Amino acid sequence: MQNGFQVRLRGVSKAYDDGSTRHDVLNAVDLDVASGEMVALLGPSGSGKSTLLNIIAGLDAPDGGTVEVSGRDLAGMSERARTLLRRRDIGFVFQFFNLIPTLTVLENIRLPLELTGRRDPGPARELLERVGLAGRERAFPEELSGGEQQRIAIARALAHEPRLLLADEPTGNLDSATGARVLDLLTRLVRERGAAMVIATHSSDVVDRADRVLTLHDGAIAGGT
Ligand SMILES: Nc1ncnc2c1ncn2[C@@H]1O[C@H](COP(=O)(O)OP(=O)(O)OP(=O)(O)O)[C@@H](O)[C@H]1O
Ligand SMILES: [Mg+2]
Repeated sequence: MQNGFQVRLRGVSKAYDDGSTRHDVLNAVDLDVASGEMVALLGPSGSGKSTLLNIIAGLDAPDGGTVEVSGRDLAGMSERARTLLRRRDIGFVFQFFNLIPTLTVLENIRLPLELTGRRDPGPARELLERVGLAGRERAFPEELSGGEQQRIAIARALAHEPRLLLADEPTGNLDSATGARVLDLLTRLVRERGAAMVIATHSSDVVDRADRVLTLHDGAIAGGT
């Protein structure tokens, strides 16, 4: 386990331009997230939560400012190096799951393990059980409900025990009991493995468990960095 800051954003800005109007989404955002810390990110729809998570993961580039993950400046890295960093150190639960439709449930969960050279399916099966979907190994994503797909997306993000987990409304499709079970899993990664976590959410259950709660509003973060 590595101590210190896993994520450090300074002056991060992002705007989208639809040709006629410029829309400022993030406006000089500063953010630090340490190992072993769970941060809940709130904010109304359209406030930039997904945009911010994508920028932290290096899936999208800011227009200005710096993003450091694990002490490395993402802008100074090649695309290939960013991909390797994501594979090894980052788990991402996408708001709309992004499961691979041609792979089975078990294959989807195993993918991050295989990409880092681990062939043992044991961890993937165990995670499937932990998210309450044992027995669905061979199903394809389209055969699952939204909440089931969400749980597969969470299992996939946890499979390689990332040091940084970025989760975009990970309980948005789950009933409160299933959501609590999933949150137990996420909390364990933070408390036992010392991962850093940022969860974009509208859920008070997530807020209750978070070490810090930040709110995005008008492109800025309230609640401290
Ligand atoms: N690729 C894009 N092109 C143009 N505009 C975009 C793009 N991605 C996001 N936006 C705009 O940026 C703003 C922030 O979007 P974002 O998805 O980050 O919000 P959010 O806080 O995650 O919202 P939600 O709670 O609905 O998921 C929105 O107004 C959206 O229209
Ligand atoms: Mg979003």
